[in-house]
Amino acid sequence: MTKKLRYGIVGCGVIGPIHAEAMQSLSQEAELIAMVDIVPEKAEKLAIKYHAKPYYSLQEMLDREDLDLVSICTPSGMHGEHACQAMRAGCHVIVEKPMEITHERIEEMLCVQQETGRKLAVISQHRFEEGIGQLRALVEQQAFGRLVLASAAIPWWRSQQYYDSGAWRGTWALDGGGILMNQSIHTIDLLQWLMGPVKSISAYTDTLVHTIETEDVAVAILRFASGALGTIAASTGAYPGVTTRIEIFGDQGSAILEKGRLSHLRLARDDKEEIDAYGGGPKKRQQDRVENKSAATAQDPTAVLVALHATQIADMLRAIREDRTPLVDGYAARRPVEIILGIYESARAGKEISLAWRMKTEYVPNTVVVTE
Ligand SMILES: NC(=O)c1ccc[n+]([C@@H]2O[C@H](COP(=O)([O-])OP(=O)(O)OC[C@H]3O[C@@H](n4cnc5c(N)ncnc54)[C@H](O)[C@@H]3O)[C@@H](O)[C@H]2O)c1
Repeated sequence: MTKKLRYGIVGCGVIGPIHAEAMQSLSQEAELIAMVDIVPEKAEKLAIKYHAKPYYSLQEMLDREDLDLVSICTPSGMHGEHACQAMRAGCHVIVEKPMEITHERIEEMLCVQQETGRKLAVISQHRFEEGIGQLRALVEQQAFGRLVLASAAIPWWRSQQYYDSGAWRGTWALDGGGILMNQSIHTIDLLQWLMGPVKSISAYTDTLVHTIETEDVAVAILRFASGALGTIAASTGAYPGVTTRIEIFGDQGSAILEKGRLSHLRLARDDKEEIDAYGGGPKKRQQDRVENKSAATAQDPTAVLVALHATQIADMLRAIREDRTPLVDGYAARRPVEIILGIYESARAGKEISLAWRMKTEYVPNTVVVTE
């Protein structure tokens, strides 16, 4: 039997305990040894539950425990500092999303990862959902033909109490943004995973409902490197919050993803009879609803979150054992952050901005290859 990896968690707030529970479900492979939080009660509560050791300083935990792998679950603007500290101490790291909130700190994380030879994975748990996996496979098969249009809608609700629940929430320094950097990053990651690199962006952002520094509403127009156009519409002021939706359209098919499931799929290759010039025809609408019985099943959101985190963490454990790149590594995770920083730049400047420089310099594993 191979030795269990020794695992630690930094940050025991909302998401830290999800990592603990996810890792517990992988207890054949890794053991939760220690956790740290600057608020002692949070570290102690989690430590008691998992029979692990609480710490109140990351450096102390790294000095005293011989850890193989650490999850970084602190506020977003601390991810770089904590991930680099852990990698320099010899640990592999799983970083919560967003990877970081500035170009410079992301560069530093990638440099430290290369210098230390440690593995770095960034949580993007929705990539492990069944619907997006199906959609991504169809895109790889070019089943949609020439992709022309895509949209992501994130009409969510977050109360003022949510923002007031942590001094870092809704701040530029530690949240790095609002609805885009915190909530929409998941959907923006999926959108670019399907559609390929973004070449240029025009955007508006505003703060209309909440008392926060950052945006609670945003609209962006994207031009993908493939030539396709796209939109992002997002808000945390859309009471009571509606399902996240991604739509993609090509000249050979269309798909809609809602709540991580395909709610619509229509491909020309599956049509028995040709549709007419206006999209009509005898078979129209017979195939475009995807039967998904499980879609009607009520699911516990925490259980879903734990299960998806466990799937991604299991991928990281395999990557460590097999010495390969995790499915969402630092290069992949940097892409949605670059798009979001581009949206902020465009909204501030009041003009279209280009991300073409990024496409030329980046090594891009695990993404759709699109030639300029
Ligand atoms: N993948 C997801 O779906 C998901 C969901 C929620 C949060 N997140 C991400 O997880 C991160 C944390 O979010 P949260 O909602 O758990 O926040 P939180 O405020 O509930 O928890 C953060 C914890 O970090 C602790 N902390 C702060 N500074 C520290 C330090 N120097 N050393 C050790 N601990 C420190 C805080 O005391 C707090 O307990 C954010 O980056 C967020 O974007 C991801």
